[in-house]
Amino acid sequence: MAEKSPAADVEASLLAHLNSTGEVPDSRSFASSLGVSHLELEGVIKSLSAFRIVESTDIIDETWVLTDEAKGYAAKGSPEAQLVSAIPPEGATKGALKAKLGDAFDVGMKAAARNKWIGFEKGNKDLVLRKVENFKDELQEQLKRLENGEVIPDEVINDLKRRKLITKEKSIGHSLKKGPEFVVKRKTLATDVTTEHLRSGDWKDLEFKDYNYAAQGQPIAKGYVQPLMEVREAIENIFFMMGFTEMPTNNFVESSFWNFDALFQPQQHPARDSHDTFFLKAPMATRQLPEDYLEKVKQVHQSGGYGSKGYGYDWKRDEAEKNLLRTHTTAVSTRMLYKLAQEKPFAPKRYYSIDRVFRNEAVDRTHLAEFHQIEGLICDYGLTLGDLIGVLEDFFSSLGMSKLRFKPAYNPYTEPSMEIFSYHDGLKKWVEVGNSGMFRPEMLLPMGLPEGVNVIAWGLSLERPTMILYGIDNIRDLFGPKVDFNLIKSSTLCRLGL
Ligand code: PHE
Repeated sequence: MAEKSPAADVEASLLAHLNSTGEVPDSRSFASSLGVSHLELEGVIKSLSAFRIVESTDIIDETWVLTDEAKGYAAKGSPEAQLVSAIPPEGATKGALKAKLGDAFDVGMKAAARNKWIGFEKGNKDLVLRKVENFKDELQEQLKRLENGEVIPDEVINDLKRRKLITKEKSIGHSLKKGPEFVVKRKTLATDVTTEHLRSGDWKDLEFKDYNYAAQGQPIAKGYVQPLMEVREAIENIFFMMGFTEMPTNNFVESSFWNFDALFQPQQHPARDSHDTFFLKAPMATRQLPEDYLEKVKQVHQSGGYGSKGYGYDWKRDEAEKNLLRTHTTAVSTRMLYKLAQEKPFAPKRYYSIDRVFRNEAVDRTHLAEFHQIEGLICDYGLTLGDLIGVLEDFFSSLGMSKLRFKPAYNPYTEPSMEIFSYHDGLKKWVEVGNSGMFRPEMLLPMGLPEGVNVIAWGLSLERPTMILYGIDNIRDLFGPKVDFNLIKSSTLCRLGL
């Protein structure tokens, strides 16, 4: 048998008391009658109430309690009484009394004089004489009565309060009754069979605690994936299934040449304005550009070629050298296509990237100055607009968007170009989900790609589908310093297109 804990004794006494008398009017006096602290009894009451074995009602009241000073007076007598008792028949000097009484001396002198319990010898103010034989120490009596919880008249309370001998204290007790599950002795249910039980034979009579199948497990302390990263991974898997490989997008800083010029975007184009693009102050210009290729890009802008008339303006190298934060990942696609064009013989490729881009835009609930772009491209002989539409249908239906529509659009680097719309079942309307097109010969031929090779490509933001999937309507709740970690912790796994 396990040793009985003191709490078990308290519990047994409390239950026995309730069994015979039916109630405990105040747990505080019950605790003192048991000789245990109220705190200990409260622990037992809590546990019994949880199992509805007892019913407990709080009693909150304020009581007067003695200050430390007053506790001393209740034990040793009031200062005036201590003073008078200390005076021998022949009287005592103030110095001698002070040495004996300490702190109580001054108060004692005043009160004793007021009570006319002491006097002085004529001409000698230092010798204190005792004027009474017997006296009643009323203060001590009052303090003792208060300590015992007796009722004290209001004027006495006021007097004690004024003398700072008592303070008010809040006290919480409990009145107790039998609860609906009342028992005189609680059965302790076993949770395990131990070797001890087997040895002693106890196991035969044991009653077992029921399994709580609804109990929640401990929350697992683990890291959580940001919704954007979650969706990014799902989209990467779609690209992998479609046979795409990833492009290296690890440089946020790009030159205007790769971001715009190589894409046949004229140098006066409004997107190349600092209102739309973040230009770098340091280093302001790039030092490395492929000279041969640059010359061809310059020619195609200025006077055309490859069946194009060009733009007919004076192309400036300075403008192309300006560094910027890339405004689209199409800059990376362009670099990759240029690289591909240098590899002979030509081999078809499917490339994708998902990474950050920057635009100098006013921030609102759907726009930030930086976001993530998803981009895909296929480079091969004889691709058509029909191929582009087919690939887009494959890609977007894997994302769960199978109703698509295309609208003619314009990009400096694609012809034809199409905006992609998807029917949103929740919003019951067509929403724009991306942009696409076939890269122009003015872009591909100067790179050195063979005649007859086409590139179909498309781009979209990662934020747009993530907001739709997670039901987030303000982009600032998804990305940036205002994101609530609880959103990230509580978000479910991303399941695209299921
Ligand atoms: N660069 C385009 C954008 O920023 C996306 C795009 C990529 C369009 C490829 C057509 C082809 O929106």
